[in-house]
Amino acid sequence: MSPTVPPVTSPADRPLLFGVASAALQVEGAVDVDGRGRSIWEDFQARPGAIANGDVLDDAVLHHANMAGDVALIAALDVDAYRFSVSWPRVVPDGTGRVNAAGLGFYDRLVDELLAAGIAPVATLYHWDLPAAMQTRGGWTSRATAVAFADYAATVASRLGDRVSHWGTVNEPRVAGLIGHAQGRHAPGTSDLASGVAASHHLLVAHGLATQAVRAELGGGARIGISIDLVPQRPADPDDELHVRAAHLQDLQTNAFFLDAVTGHGYPDDLVEAYGAAMPSIRTGDMAVIAEPTDFLGINHYRSETVAPLDDSHPQAHWAFAWPQPVTGPSTAMGWNIDPPSLREVIDRAVDRGVDDVVITESGMATEESLDEPALVDDQARIDWLDAHLQVVHDARADGVPVSGYFVWTLMDNFEWGEGYRPRFGLIATDPGTDLRLPKASARWYRDHIRDHHA
Ligand code: FCB
Repeated sequence: MSPTVPPVTSPADRPLLFGVASAALQVEGAVDVDGRGRSIWEDFQARPGAIANGDVLDDAVLHHANMAGDVALIAALDVDAYRFSVSWPRVVPDGTGRVNAAGLGFYDRLVDELLAAGIAPVATLYHWDLPAAMQTRGGWTSRATAVAFADYAATVASRLGDRVSHWGTVNEPRVAGLIGHAQGRHAPGTSDLASGVAASHHLLVAHGLATQAVRAELGGGARIGISIDLVPQRPADPDDELHVRAAHLQDLQTNAFFLDAVTGHGYPDDLVEAYGAAMPSIRTGDMAVIAEPTDFLGINHYRSETVAPLDDSHPQAHWAFAWPQPVTGPSTAMGWNIDPPSLREVIDRAVDRGVDDVVITESGMATEESLDEPALVDDQARIDWLDAHLQVVHDARADGVPVSGYFVWTLMDNFEWGEGYRPRFGLIATDPGTDLRLPKASARWYRDHIRDHHA
């Protein structure tokens, strides 16, 4: 008898998985509850001026206290999946060693609550909240942090893996690596290019080691991937050679360094040359670890950038090759441009690098309203933004491009890192430090969009 060969279905032929995303530090609050360890973000926020308006992350939007109610709100969106992150310091307070049962218990209950509501949990293992104890040992500038991360990943997988089938390893290694260590706008807040590149490399190694560790725990059934942020870089003056060269290097630094490495193409030669002495020494075998095959590539996408060369007097000149020009057309409350076709560009680029399953793990826009403004919940701008970007995804799938999921960033307004609470990215409005939840028009729109597509 010949074996039955299952038909090969492209991700484009499967129903699109619709979801919403969040991250532990941005929503949970409860920084001192149930034995959670300190994260580098509490240390960072203690620096005067580090967080806009002096906003504090401690209570965030009380998701830890209101988890069950929040899951009911997610269920009301009719999404298929919820992408959340697990807080390393909540689970392993010192980064290595003792596991905090109460901390892990929170995610255990979250997963059960989601499954009971018919929502697939998608667990990201690192969304930037490194245990502060790891930072005192060098943090991401040390390769040992990647090894510790894989241990923590195995701990979480062994506890949740019987119910969680979708795993994210590291969220946006570029932002954690370069913005955190070279630019200093995110924790831990250092301003040194070599630290930024070393941290980026170790975050990628952490992704590879965690992929292996989760698979060792769960076998082949689990679907694992990394989420990278891709931001097309366009020269301000395409006829000027200096602009073209600067945009090229900026593109390699922003995009290719991460995309090429995880897809097995190594770090781009031009960039390695431009980094020169800032390149870390790379241990034999690391590039293979980073290129460990995964089940999908997560892409976080928000915008494109138009950039011009930096001169030496520019404050970014110590780490970047080009600097974004002010946006002239429509923009969001982050000052980011609105460029839906750039979503297709980054999807095609990943596919061109050999990715056979793309999941858009973050996509969304920020507005900026106070609680008493009608536009807070009557957020037509967000509806238009999501509509345009979802259309790009549907068109790509109609063209046979393998995109299998789309996650809106984000469930509810939350702590937007160094920007504090001013930018509101949520489908649901919140008031920091309280459990207020006001679904916006975009939440109903997204629910209807999902219903239409699943009909
Ligand atoms: C991404 C982050 C996410 C959120 C959005 C707006 O870079 O992954 O946590 O801050 O940007």
